[in-house]
Parts: sequence; structure tokens; C-alpha cells
Amino acid sequence: MNDYFLNLNSTNNTKLIKEMYQYAKANDVPIISDEGLIYLLQLIRLTNAKKILEVGTAIGYSAIQMASISKDIHIDTIERDIDSYNIAISNINKAKLNDNIHVVLKDGLEVTKMDLMGIASYEYDLIFIDAAKAQYKNFFNLFTPYLKKGGIVVCDNLLFHGLVGLSAEEKEKNITTKNLKGLVRKIEEFNDWLSKQKGYKTDFLKIGDGMSVSTKL
Ligand SMILES: C[S@@+](CC[C@H](N)C(=O)[O-])C[C@H]1O[C@@H](n2cnc3c(N)ncnc32)[C@H](O)[C@@H]1O
Repeated sequence: MNDYFLNLNSTNNTKLIKEMYQYAKANDVPIISDEGLIYLLQLIRLTNAKKILEVGTAIGYSAIQMASISKDIHIDTIERDIDSYNIAISNINKAKLNDNIHVVLKDGLEVTKMDLMGIASYEYDLIFIDAAKAQYKNFFNLFTPYLKKGGIVVCDNLLFHGLVGLSAEEKEKNITTKNLKGLVRKIEEFNDWLSKQKGYKTDFLKIGDGMSVSTKL
């Protein structure tokens, strides 16, 4: 999206949000893109989603943005890194959203139903997957049993900085390390797998860093 369109959108511009945004940019915290956020928030409004699960809290930026839409929104959000968790808790306190956002300090792959008995209580309207890219299929399989029928799963970074979906030749040129090659392959496998899930209707969108939106049929 060019800046002209981006600037026409009204966004949550509180002092705290601005500070969090600047902190993320200064400290290389990979928060959701501006365009991805605008789309995600509109999706929440359009579907009237109230119970949300997020995998990957980081400093709480997207969780605070989502919870700021309405007082009836409740979010369970999972973060494994203790430093990020502490910063997220402090930001959520500052935003006075403690009754709306419950942060689970755990590896997403170890989270059980008990951990999700927080404020959203696991019959989710929307699941936002935004953590370790290599684990997307596992997160999807682990958490979608807690998604209501008609609910939505959003996955971010599916184009992974434009490295996913390149031709073999372009990959050879642009992807230099073995680790990165493996990660790109995993994301491509996930995208392919997701596109074939019979229980879901999935759209893949060139928004931000590449997003999927799946409806549970
Ligand atoms: C892209 S950032 C999340 C950004 C956040 N959703 C936002 O837009 O403001 C990904 C976060 O997921 C966390 N993470 C990665 N793998 C995880 C896992 N297996 N379980 C829990 N958290 C994980 C990382 O520590 C990092 O803070």
C-alpha cells in the first residue's frame, strides 16, 4: 500500500501506541505491518469478533490495538519470551486493558486448554497466528479445535519479506543461508497445506507481509 492510502486511514494514535510503535522500530521487534493491522482490525469489526486468541504477543502492540476496538473484546495471547512478556504486561497495564487481555507466558506448542481458561475462555471467534513461522501448521492444528464454526484464523508473514514464492533461480540469488532456505520451504509447505484444508475456506492476500484469512466451515 502506498503512503497516500495509508495516511487516509484513521488509526489508534494514543501516546502509548505511538511509544510502542517507536519502541518496536528502535528495537527490531517485529510487530504487525500498518496495512496488516488495518485489515485485521476491520475484519474484527466486520465479523463482530469478541473472543480472540493470539499466538505471539511480543510487546502487546497488536493485542492492545485489537482490544481497543471495543470493551467487550477479550483476548488470550501467548508469548514464550519472558522479557517480551514483561514489557507486554507493563503496556497492557498502561492501556488499562488488564480485564481484556490475558497473557499466557508459555511456548505456544505447550499450551493446554487449562491455560486458555482465561478471559476469552477458548470458544474463539478469531485466532491470530503470528509467532514462530516454522510452527504454523502445529499452531493451526493445536488451536483451531477451540475456534467456533464460522470463526476465522488469520496468519501473518506468509510471504516472509517477499522470499516465499520466488522461482528457484530467484531463491538461489536471494536466499543465502541454509536456515533461511529451510524456513522459506516450511512456510511454502504450510501455505500449500492450508490451501487444501477441506474444513476451511482460505484466502491468501498480499497485505503487509502476506496474510491468510481462513473461515471454519
Ligand atoms: C511477530 S512477533 C508478534 C508481534 C505481535 N503479534 C504484534 O504484531 O504486535 C512474534 C512473537 O512470537 C513469539 N514466539 C515465537 N515463537 C513462539 C512460540 N513457539 N510460543 C510462544 N511465543 C512465540 C516471539 O517471542 C515474538 O515475541
